Amino acid sequence: MRPNRPSLRWLARWTALCLGSTLATAQAVEIAITCGPSGSDVEFCLKHAQAWAAKTGHTVKNFSPPTSPTEKLALYRQLFAARSPDIDVVQIDTAWPGVLKDHLLDLKPLSRGIEAQHFPAIIANNTVGGRLVGMPWYTDAGLLYYRKDLLARHGRPVPTTWAELTETARLVQEAERRRGAANFHGFVFQAKAYEGLTCNALEWVSGHGGGSVVDAAGQITVNNAQAAQALNLAASWIGKIAPIGVLNYEEEEARGVFQNGQALFMRNWPYAWALLEKDDSPVKGKVGIAKLPGQPSAATLGGWQLGVSRYSRHPEIAADLVMYMTSAQVQKARAIGGSFNPTLPALYQDREVIAANAFMANLQEVFANSVARPTSATGLKYPQVSQSFYNAAHEVMSGRATGEEAVRRLEKRLRQIRRKHW
Ligand code: GLC
Repeated sequence: MRPNRPSLRWLARWTALCLGSTLATAQAVEIAITCGPSGSDVEFCLKHAQAWAAKTGHTVKNFSPPTSPTEKLALYRQLFAARSPDIDVVQIDTAWPGVLKDHLLDLKPLSRGIEAQHFPAIIANNTVGGRLVGMPWYTDAGLLYYRKDLLARHGRPVPTTWAELTETARLVQEAERRRGAANFHGFVFQAKAYEGLTCNALEWVSGHGGGSVVDAAGQITVNNAQAAQALNLAASWIGKIAPIGVLNYEEEEARGVFQNGQALFMRNWPYAWALLEKDDSPVKGKVGIAKLPGQPSAATLGGWQLGVSRYSRHPEIAADLVMYMTSAQVQKARAIGGSFNPTLPALYQDREVIAANAFMANLQEVFANSVARPTSATGLKYPQVSQSFYNAAHEVMSGRATGEEAVRRLEKRLRQIRRKHW
């Protein structure tokens, strides 16, 4: 008897297994992806997911998530807690790799090294404990959109400090209202109590020299005079240069007002550019983009990745969709048609990409001065940190606290969240 020789029965079972798995991969399956729902996101995401489906013979289904990233995260956490296979491919905010790491597949074994072509800082952000939990899809940073025609009409330069933006917005709003534009506003942005307000408020605080709430070493730094001053200034905008409704605005509400021609300045992400420049846009050709005001000017870093749920029934096929959606070909099309910033440095040298988005050539300075949300320092507790920060900012802006009170209380709250360590 030769003990190492596989028995016939074993061989038969092994052959059946191999055959079975070949048949399984050849079989068409349905992959659920979370596309959109805001802006042109859903349109581009679905178009490319369907192109992948046509190419591979699989089908895709959209699992439409809520618009607010805060609500998206809550939904994912619910589904992940239940180990639900309902979503295969998930959109992951830059701020989440550390929060969702345990529920996402490591894409490294399936990526064939393609991550080396993306911005190393984004790959580092998406790599948790050596596992690549998301492939970069697009990157972004906060920008100041302004009406070129109106600044010229009223003889004002693009503001470089938040105080100057406040003054110009007030002057132009008054003058435009006198000219008959009764609903004209100086400035629109995102001040609903959600992740977007964290991004906006971080830009005001950082742009006043008030730091980034929690620093890279995990120290709570938000209780300082500049941070309080920044929040007080933002509170002074409400009902004066910004509509009261801004307290409930996400990105798309702000864009709606600006695109209708009813605001001088807007804080938003790059995606707004392509929509503002559409043929039917009332402000087409009248908009300029600049870095946000501030000393130093600070733009919050944002962006999205695609990951595969650990509970997916078809992880390898889902990963194939992720690789397709994040490929140079798709990123180029999204950049040209939707002004989504690529995560592949090579595309910033692409003539067609730059022709469609002149501002992208000048974004280097914006990215160089960007501020990251304190996600690395606070890890799994980041969602609580962010929630406490946006609630504090919202309280000040709705007149329920002064900036000084809010940052003092916020420091206390963050200490409770941190306890001994993050
Ligand atoms: C954008 C950014 C994202 C951020 C969100 C806030 O989608 O890409 O990083 O969290 O806006 O609303």
